[in-house]
Amino acid sequence: DIGYINGRYIGLNELAVPIEERGHQFGDGIYEVIRVYNGKTFMLNEHLERLIKSGNAIKLQIEHSIDDFRKLIHDAIAKSGEKDCCVYLQITRGISARNHLFPNVPVSISLTVKQIVPLQKSIRVNGAAAILHEDERWSNCYIKSLNLLPNVLARQTAYEQGCFEAILVRNGMITEGTSSNVFMVKQGKLYTAPLSRHILAGITRMAVKKICKQVSVDFIKQSFSKEELLQADEVFITNTTSEIVPIVTVEGQTIGAGRPGEVTTKLYHKLQQFVA
Ligand code: PDD
Repeated sequence: DIGYINGRYIGLNELAVPIEERGHQFGDGIYEVIRVYNGKTFMLNEHLERLIKSGNAIKLQIEHSIDDFRKLIHDAIAKSGEKDCCVYLQITRGISARNHLFPNVPVSISLTVKQIVPLQKSIRVNGAAAILHEDERWSNCYIKSLNLLPNVLARQTAYEQGCFEAILVRNGMITEGTSSNVFMVKQGKLYTAPLSRHILAGITRMAVKKICKQVSVDFIKQSFSKEELLQADEVFITNTTSEIVPIVTVEGQTIGAGRPGEVTTKLYHKLQQFVA
């Protein structure tokens, strides 16, 4: 595992960020989490495009090009010697005396490359539990912002109730998870919320969309309510680190047959081939 900040490689526990840094003091920055399978980055271009989109949305003045980031990431992976790992890349508005106004300083770029922590086997095999939680976040959730307090609080609430994820509900409709996109299967068709300001455009979501085409499963971008979720045949969540995780109970209520469903399992296996 290694770290990198503003041009130098460091150990993960090395002190590197001054107190007066925008990410540290304001959460004034953005990030990406990118999966590496057998030394190869997964959908890196899509991640970098989303990174730039997030940067533009918060008016970061990034001098680096997509190619610069691609090189930085590949160099760091090579340097780490890891094969199956995750890259965490963060850009903040830089180092400057605390003041809400934008400083006129270069952005800070940091990253870590860390070995993957595999998902608990029992969750893979039997599925996981989720709670429903009010979506208390702001209206710009398409930005992959460092400000994750509502996500952290909801996720901790789920954990304290013995659950893996909190599925967020805004005006009665499912948006996404605290760090995942949410899907339901009903009569063989797959449903997920359409892209909007209220969800992050997940890269794994994008991969699932492609896979659905290959296996002839309808991928329907349509919002659904928490009642519809509870009545679903199957539910799963997706993200870069956990890929596809079957959800078999929500708020203590059993979903479908109470075990990972047929469509979920098929998509998961197809995704494994996709990344191989
Ligand atoms: N989170 N929605 C939210 C709010 C997320 O934080 C994430 C990912 C996703 C899924 O996006 P992707 O498929 O591109 O990973 C959806 C990352 C993994 C994290 O914060 O660690």
